[in-house]
Formats: sequence, C-alpha cells, structure tokens
Amino acid sequence: MTSWEPRILGFLCNWCAYAGADLAGVSRVQYPPNVRVIRVMCSGRVDPVLVLEAFRGGADGVAVLGCHPGDCHYLTGNYQAERKMAMASRILEEVGIEPERLLLDWVSAAEGQRFGEVITCFVGRVRALGPLSGVPGASERAAVGEGIAASDRLRWLVGKERELVEAGNAYGEVLDADAFREVLWRNISVEHFRQRVRAELGKGPMTVGTIAGALDMPPRDVLRIIVDLEDRGIVHSGGMDGDSPLYVLAGTGGECR
Ligand code: FES
Repeated sequence: MTSWEPRILGFLCNWCAYAGADLAGVSRVQYPPNVRVIRVMCSGRVDPVLVLEAFRGGADGVAVLGCHPGDCHYLTGNYQAERKMAMASRILEEVGIEPERLLLDWVSAAEGQRFGEVITCFVGRVRALGPLSGVPGASERAAVGEGIAASDRLRWLVGKERELVEAGNAYGEVLDADAFREVLWRNISVEHFRQRVRAELGKGPMTVGTIAGALDMPPRDVLRIIVDLEDRGIVHSGGMDGDSPLYVLAGTGGECR
C-alpha cells in the first residue's frame, strides 16, 4: 500500500522567503521535502486565481511566503498579499475546502531556520487534514472558486480596500474595515451563486425553475442572477419550454438573437 504524502505548492518572494529557503539549504536545515517552489518577485503578485488553480490541479496545500511587514521591496506588496490571501481563504471556505490548506507567512532572507520551521509546521497541518481528494468534488469546488476569484467586482473591491478604509472614497468617507470585509464576504457569496448558475447552464438550456430546483435556491434569486448575466452578455434567451423561457450560456449554441 502506498502511503500518501502531502503535495504542497509554495510561492516564495524572491527577496526574502526564497533567499531564506536558500539559506536553509546551505545551512542544512532539515524540513519535509513536500513543497514545490515557484519564485515570485513579491508575495503581492500571487493572485487568488493561482491559489485556486493550484488546488484544482491537485495541490493539497498552498504556502505563500513573503517579506516581513515593513520589509517588502515594493513597499506594500505584502499588505496586498494579506488582502488577497484573506479573500482566497474565504473563497475556499465558501466552496467547502478547508481554508487551513492555505498559508500566508513571512520569512526573511536571514531566517533559514525559520523557513524550515514554517514548512515543517505547515506540512504537518496539511498532513492532519488529509489529501484534498478526500473532499468530495474537490477539483470541481476549486474550479468554482477559481471562477469566483476571477470576478471583476471582487478584484476591484480587494484592490480598493486599503484606499477605502484608510484614505476614504471620492467624498472623503473612510469606510470601517469590518464593514468593508462584510461587504466583500457578501459579494463572494453572491459570486458563488452566480458561478453555480453558470455551471448549471453549462449543461444545456434551462428554465429559471429548473435551475432553482437543481440548486435548491429561491427562483427569485436565480432570476436576479440570470438577468445580471444576460445584461453582461454571458447568458442569452434560448427559446421556450411551454410558458417558461429557456436560457443558455453564450457561445454554447441555441441562442435566439
Ligand atoms: S518583495 Fe517580498 S513580499 Fe514584497
């Protein structure tokens, strides 16, 4: 019987964590060999879409390691990483994947020993969670999460967070950080519904009632999402089923234009 080993993808900032990993190697620090490393110029460059893509591709855990707060070579990159990984973590939770499978931490170029400790601890945590394939439909869940993370609205919100909670909006109104987070989380849930409706329509032309039944959602909420998707050209009307209009995804045929 083959024993399972966690497969972990590590995004390491070039200036700190990657150099820390290098030092760990030179110093012969012992740590589990479960991490495959991708070097990035800054932790702030790691997009939540990449995190979800890694899970869709079969990673059991993802670690994003950057410079300590205040040490980012691009000043605010690790601040951005915090916001982005908070969003990725919330999306994981939303689609039913343990957010503990995602780690954001800081390791400096001088912290070879710490690099080993952080990796050892994270591999242990993922090992305790078990393989991601143990989560039913893990790959599909991650794919839905990827769609959520790619949402223009969410990306705009995350990108504006610091400005809105520190400097304020165009009217000088500074938003409360907790209230902002609540708005962001709510939008993640809305986007999740949108992705589920899209996934359902990917199976073929459907009425609002059929989708509502399949997803166990109120027809009114499904209709609201369909209207929004129609406005954005993602969904078209696709004929009738008795008295009920059918809807289809754009580009999948069957559109009535
Ligand atoms: S340069 Fe290392 S986190 Fe930005």
